[in-house]
Amino acid sequence: MSPYALLDSEEVLRGLLAGLDVGILLAEHNGAVCFINDAMRQLFEVPAGRPVATLADIGGINLKLAIIRGLIDAGFSDAVSRRQTGTLTLERWFDLPSSRRCIELRTSLIERPRALPLRLVLARDVTDLRRLGGEAGRAFPALITRDAQMREVLRQLAQVAPTDAYVLLQGESGTGKNLLVRQLHQLSRRAARPLVEVNCAAIPSELLESEFFGHVRGAFTGAHADRQGRFAVADRGTLFLDEVGEVPLHLQAKFLKAVQEQRFEPVGSNKTLTVDVRIVSASNRNLKDAVEARQFRADLYYRLSVIALHIPPLRSRKADIPLLIDHFLQDLLNRGYPRATVSPEALRLLLDYPWPGNVRELQNAMEHAVICAVDGVVLPESLPQDIRDFPARMVPTPARPAATATASQWRGQILFALRQCNGNKAAAAKMLGIDRVTLWRRMRKLGLQ
Ligand SMILES: Nc1ncnc2c1ncn2[C@@H]1O[C@H](COP(=O)(O)OP(=O)(O)OP(=O)(O)O)[C@@H](O)[C@H]1O
Ligand SMILES: [Mg+2]
Repeated sequence: MSPYALLDSEEVLRGLLAGLDVGILLAEHNGAVCFINDAMRQLFEVPAGRPVATLADIGGINLKLAIIRGLIDAGFSDAVSRRQTGTLTLERWFDLPSSRRCIELRTSLIERPRALPLRLVLARDVTDLRRLGGEAGRAFPALITRDAQMREVLRQLAQVAPTDAYVLLQGESGTGKNLLVRQLHQLSRRAARPLVEVNCAAIPSELLESEFFGHVRGAFTGAHADRQGRFAVADRGTLFLDEVGEVPLHLQAKFLKAVQEQRFEPVGSNKTLTVDVRIVSASNRNLKDAVEARQFRADLYYRLSVIALHIPPLRSRKADIPLLIDHFLQDLLNRGYPRATVSPEALRLLLDYPWPGNVRELQNAMEHAVICAVDGVVLPESLPQDIRDFPARMVPTPARPAATATASQWRGQILFALRQCNGNKAAAAKMLGIDRVTLWRRMRKLGLQ
């Protein structure tokens, strides 16, 4: 007899469900609730006798919306259709009648032979875990972007988050890799477990092995006690290897084995430990180049980069600059800095600057600018020196073409202005100091339409 046949007995099934302390709810495709267990009622503080007809009836909480939002955020654009098959884990703070609780919801579809699938929702209270703090629990800053490339990265990130696939994030310094890793972890089914970060560039290479794998007492001078390594601490969670390109070659073989088999021996021990970690790594140099230069093992590279995501630099997503400026000004205001606005001249400089330090540099520049603002206005002279001085070093020079500019100069300047303004002709015209009709006429003349 199949063990599942037992579950045909209602008593057995009831006993089983009553014994679980996880909230369970089953809903039809249209959101009509067909089953809810006691744990789910308790979790959402739904009185025992009260019927729950739809997901929206749970303590006045629009759970359906929370789930759909979560699915959409996670990149399942067909969230409400039946094609979403994977499991999605999301966490939300809910204001319940007696308290504010953080509830983890896991949802998936249960296929049925001759009917539309049922939506299964599992819920558990993770408030205490979250209140305990810890990296994984702290609310992370919002990720601001309107750039299409960046959105695509976010979509892919959300799509792979609930799987256990290894992800490699590459992008220049300050592009938001750490921020993205935190999002990835939050969206993963490991969100309630630790996100353990190791900055491979910050740890001296001779200590890296023990940092990763731990050591036993006496393994080397100074090893006074057994110490757990980061792989072990991250068990069932996510291990984030920042600057993974800095792992020295001599350690990469042991590293590969740990990454591949999830097994390793602490330094000085012959006991093999087994873990379950999801590895996410980041690098601000191109690892492929490091592979070619034989500084990084190709097998390790391929293992880590099952999903490789490239974060575009800020200079290639200029439309994000004004958005980020507003965001940082607001953030500074919230942190007690004075209110400030940015003058058009200063904005021009901020848009032209190539931002080698990307979003982090912009963030710091805004702090500098707000401190140096004049009567609440950020002027060119309020900006850090590098940004103020940049146009002088820039070729071709001014955005505003001289009256005598040649056709090819005009052409270059119009294209430049359009790029800067994300194709917005009105803004580009303003930037060039001409009216819209003139711009339009010149574009036609230059064959730029
Ligand atoms: N799109 C964004 N929206 C809001 N803040 C952002 C964004 N991208 C980055 N930041 C902020 O910029 C700073 C730098 O980001 P982060 O540390 O994630 O960059 P990184 O790519 O890991 O840099 P590094 O390679 O130097 O480690 C952080 O304070 C982060 O919160
Ligand atoms: Mg980083």
